[in-house]
Amino acid sequence: MAKIILTGDRPTGRLHLGHYVGSLRRRVELQNTGGFDEIFIMIADAQALTDNADNPEKVRQNIIQVALDYLSAGLDPKKVHIFIQSMVPQLTELTFYYMNLVTVQRLQRNPTVKQEIKLRGFSETDDGSDNKAGTPVGFFCYPISQAADITAFKATTVPVGEDQEPMIEQCREIVRKFNSVYGPALVEPEILLPDNAACLRLPGTDGKAKMSKSLGNCIYLSDPEEEVTRKVKGMFTDPGHLQVSDPGKVEGNPVFTYLDAFCRDEHFARFGSCFQGKKVSFEFRNLEEVKAQYRAGGLGDMMVKNFLAAVLNDTLEPIRQRRAELEKDLPAVWEVLREGSEVAARTAQKTLEDVRKAMRIDYFNDSELTGLQ
Ligand code: TRP
Repeated sequence: MAKIILTGDRPTGRLHLGHYVGSLRRRVELQNTGGFDEIFIMIADAQALTDNADNPEKVRQNIIQVALDYLSAGLDPKKVHIFIQSMVPQLTELTFYYMNLVTVQRLQRNPTVKQEIKLRGFSETDDGSDNKAGTPVGFFCYPISQAADITAFKATTVPVGEDQEPMIEQCREIVRKFNSVYGPALVEPEILLPDNAACLRLPGTDGKAKMSKSLGNCIYLSDPEEEVTRKVKGMFTDPGHLQVSDPGKVEGNPVFTYLDAFCRDEHFARFGSCFQGKKVSFEFRNLEEVKAQYRAGGLGDMMVKNFLAAVLNDTLEPIRQRRAELEKDLPAVWEVLREGSEVAARTAQKTLEDVRKAMRIDYFNDSELTGLQ
C-alpha cells in the first residue's frame, strides 16, 4: 500500500515554535527521508472559518502567511503538495456523507471539541442574542470534516501534535464504520506524534500549557531576532528560584522545556560563552550538565535565557532569511498553492468516486440501475 501523509494547519495566524516542534520540523524531515509516496500539506481555511465566520478576512490574509512559514521552514513544493482546503470542494461532499456515520453524542464526547468549546466561550444555551451564542454547527462538526481531509487522500500517516489525537481517533472510527457499512473504500490512518516529550506540547513563554495566539505567549517563526531575545528574557521560569544561589527546578520550567526541544550538543561549542560571566563561569558540554548545575544552585536564569535565545535565533535565522527571499515574489508562492490545490482536487475526486461507488450512489455509471449505455 502506498504511504501517504496528510496534515495541515488553520490559517488564523502566523505559525509559532509550537507548530514547528510539534509538526512542521517533522514534516520537513519526512519529506527529505523520501519514505513516503506522496505528502499533502493543507492550509485549512474552511476549518478556520468554523469559528471565524464573521471574520473571513483574517483567514484570507493568513493563507499566504502560513504558506510562507511552510516554505521558509523547508517544505519543498517539488516534494510535497501544499494546497488550500476550500479549493478542494470534494472534501465538503465527503464530509456530508460522513456526517451520517457519527452521532451528536459521540462528537460531544470528543475531548478536543469539548475543550475548544470551553476555550472559545460558546455557551450551552443560545437565547438568540449575540451575547449568548451557542456553538456553530460547522465548528461542532469539524472533526468530521477533518476525517474527510485525511481520507480523501487515502492518507496512512498524519503527523500532528498531541491535541489532535482525538481527531485522528474519530477519523479511524468513521473509516471503520464506512468500510463495514459500504465496503472497504477508505484507509485507516495512523497518527505520528513527536518523539521528544518536550515537542509534544510546547508550553507558552508564560509557562501556560500551550503556545496559543489568543494567550499572547508565542514566539513566531517569523519574529525578528530582537523580538525572540526579548520574549525569551521575559519568560516564566521557576518562581522558587529567587537568588542565583538557590536550587532551581528544571521540570515544568519552560526555559528548559524549550532547550529540550531545540538544544543540541554542538550549540555548546558555539554559544558556550553565554555561561561565561564576570563572577561565575561554567564550561558545559551538554544540556544535562546545565540542568545539574541549575538544580544544584549557582546558575542564574539570565545565563540560561541568553543561551536559549542564541539557540533559538540560530534555528530561526535560516528560516527568516528564506522568508525574506520568498516575500519578494508572493505571486510565485500563490502559484505553488494553485498547483498544489489542482493535484489535491484530482486526488480527492478519485476517492470521492470510490466513495460514491461503494455507497452505490454513482447513478449514471450504474447501467444496471438506469439502463443507460
Ligand atoms: N485541526 C488542525 C489544526 O488545528 C488542522 C487540520 C485540519 C488538520 N484538517 C486536518 C490536521 C487534517 C491534520 C489532518 O491544526
